[in-house]
Amino acid sequence: MRFPFLFATRGCRAVYRLHQKQFLSPVPPLWKHRSSAAVSTQLCKDDRSYYITTPIFYVNASPHLGHLYSAVLADCLHRYKLLQGFNSKFATGTDEHGLKIQQAAEAAGKDPLTFCTGVSKQFRHLFSSCNISYTDYIRTTEQRHREAVEDFWSVLWNKGLIYKGSYEGWYSTQDESFLMPSQVGDALDSLGKEIKVSLESGHKVEWMKEENYMFRLSAFQSQLLDWLKGNPQAVQPERFHQAVLKWLHEDLPDLSVSRQRSRLQWGIPVPGDDEQTIYVWLDALVNYLTVAGYPDKHNQWWHVARHVIGKDILKFHAIYWPAFLLGAGLPLPKVIHVHSHWTVGGKKMSKSLGNVVDPLERSQMFTADGMRYFLLRQGVPDSDCDYTDDKVAKLLNAELADSLGGLLNRCTAPALNPAQVYPSFCPQSFPRAHGGRAVREDYHMLDAVKKLPAVVEKHYETMHIYKALEAISACVRLTNGFVQRHTPWKLDRKNSEDERWVDTIIHISLECLRIYGTLLQPIVPETSNKLLSRLGVQPHERSWAALNFLARYQGMDCPFEGRALGSDSGVLFSRLEPHNADKQKPKKTKKSAN
Ligand code: MSP
Repeated sequence: MRFPFLFATRGCRAVYRLHQKQFLSPVPPLWKHRSSAAVSTQLCKDDRSYYITTPIFYVNASPHLGHLYSAVLADCLHRYKLLQGFNSKFATGTDEHGLKIQQAAEAAGKDPLTFCTGVSKQFRHLFSSCNISYTDYIRTTEQRHREAVEDFWSVLWNKGLIYKGSYEGWYSTQDESFLMPSQVGDALDSLGKEIKVSLESGHKVEWMKEENYMFRLSAFQSQLLDWLKGNPQAVQPERFHQAVLKWLHEDLPDLSVSRQRSRLQWGIPVPGDDEQTIYVWLDALVNYLTVAGYPDKHNQWWHVARHVIGKDILKFHAIYWPAFLLGAGLPLPKVIHVHSHWTVGGKKMSKSLGNVVDPLERSQMFTADGMRYFLLRQGVPDSDCDYTDDKVAKLLNAELADSLGGLLNRCTAPALNPAQVYPSFCPQSFPRAHGGRAVREDYHMLDAVKKLPAVVEKHYETMHIYKALEAISACVRLTNGFVQRHTPWKLDRKNSEDERWVDTIIHISLECLRIYGTLLQPIVPETSNKLLSRLGVQPHERSWAALNFLARYQGMDCPFEGRALGSDSGVLFSRLEPHNADKQKPKKTKKSAN
C-alpha cells in the first residue's frame, strides 16, 4: 500500500512527493532521546576529555585557503585544551565518496580510489606543513569507517527510521545536497544556456526522481527544537543558532539517504540492498563516530564531541546529524562551532574566477605560523573576511615582527641585558602601593596582563580566536609602551638604584613575554617555542597552570628569576615586504637594542 505525502514549502506549491512503502516500527518515544542528551550533559561536568573535529574535506580538488582555516581553528582549540591539561582527541581527514568525487575521478581518468588517495595526500601534506596536530586522520574509504557506517545504518533501520520510498526533487552534485524549490533559482551557464542553481551556493542543480531510502527526518523536528532551545550554546555564534531555529520552524521533509547504485557506484552499499548506495552525507557525518571508536568503544569521546564547521554545511551538522544521532540513541555534539568564509577581492573563491588561494604556497611564502596567525587574527566567525597578500604581510610585520619580535629583541639584546639572564625584580622600585619608580600606566599594564589569561580563555572557549589575539596584541603594545616610557637603555647600570630599576623593567617585560608566548602556543607554535626557549622557559613550564604572572610582585618566588636566558636563535619573526609579498622571500631585520 502507498501513502502519498505532500510537502508544501514557503511561497511555492507542493513539490516533494514521497511514496512510503514500508513502515517497520513506530518512531521511538521522545523522552528516550531527551534522556540521552540530558545524560550526556550530566556526564560531561567534570570530564577532562575533549574531542574536536574538522569537517572531512572533499577530495574532488586540491586544498584551498578555506580548508586550511577550518583545520587551523580546530587545531588551535585542540592545542589550547592540551595546555589546560585535557586529554584531547583531534580528528580531521577526507570525504571520499559520492557523485562529485566519482565524476572528478572520471574526469581525471583515474580509478576513484587512486584519485582519492592522491588528493587525500595533498591535504595531509598541507596539514603537516602547517603544524595541524591531528591525532587521527580518517578517510571514508577505510574499512573501519565502512563498518561504522553499516552499523549506524542498521541501527536506524532496525528502529524503523529508514524506509524505502521514492524521492523527486532538486539535487546539487557540487553540494551533494537536496534542495527545496524555494532554494532554487534561474541562471545562465558559461555557454549562455539557462540552468537552475542553488540560491545559496550558486551551484547547478538537477531534477532527480528515483527510488531510494528515506530517513524520517520530519519526526525529529520538535526534538531538535527542544535541544536547541535547551542548549543555547549548542550552535555558536548566536546568529547561526538563530538560523537553525528558523529552518526548524519551516517544513522539515524526510530525507533521502541513498542513491540508486546505477547512478552512484562510488560509496558504501546499503546493507542488505546492493542496488542502493548510502547518501554521501550520512556516510561522511558518521566519520566523527568512527574516530571516536564506534560502534564498540566510543563512549569516552562521544559525549564530549565538538565540531568546527563552515557556515555552508550548517544544515547538515545542526539538523541532519543531530536527527541521525537522536534516532540512533546517541548523545548530541556538545558544541557546533561555525565559522564564516574567506573571500578574495570581495568574491567567493572559485576555480572559474581563477581566484583560489593555495594555502600551501602561501604558507611557504609567509611561513606556517604567519598564515596561522593571519587566519586566526583576521578571521571573524560571524562574518566573511577578505583575503589579500598585502594584508597578511602588513599584519605580520606589525604584530609578529615589530611588536612582539621587537619587544623580545629589546629585552634580550646584550646591550640592555649584558648578563643574558632573567634579571631580578626589585619590590622597592615597583612596590604594590605607589611610591617607587613605576607610574600609573605601569600599574594599568600589570593589571591588564594579569587578567589576560582569563580573557584569552573566555575567547578560546567560544572560538572567538580573533578576540583573544586582539587582547594579546593590545597587551604587547602596553608592554612596549612601558619599556618605551622608561627608556632603560638611557639608565646607568653603574648606579645601583638605576640598575635595580633596569632589571625590574626587564624582569617585568620578560614576564609579559612569557605570558604572551604561552598563550600564543595554540596559534603560532613555532614562534612561541622560539620565544619561550629564548626566555629559558622549559617545556614543562609552558602550560596554562604555569602562567602565574609576575610572582615576585605578589610577594612569591619566581622560578625564572636569575636564570640564564636560552640561546639566541635569531629574529623572532622576519619582516616581509608588503607590496611585493607575493614575489619576495622573508627578509631578515637588523637587530637593535631599542
Ligand atoms: N565534505 C564536506 C564536509 C563533510 S563533514 C562530515 C565538505 N567538504 S569541503 O571540502 O567542501 O569543505 C570543508 C570545509 O571547508 C567546510 O567547513 C567549509 O565551510 C570550508 N570552506 C570551504 N570554502 C571556504 C571558504 N571560502 N572560506 C572558509 N571556509 C570554507 O563540505
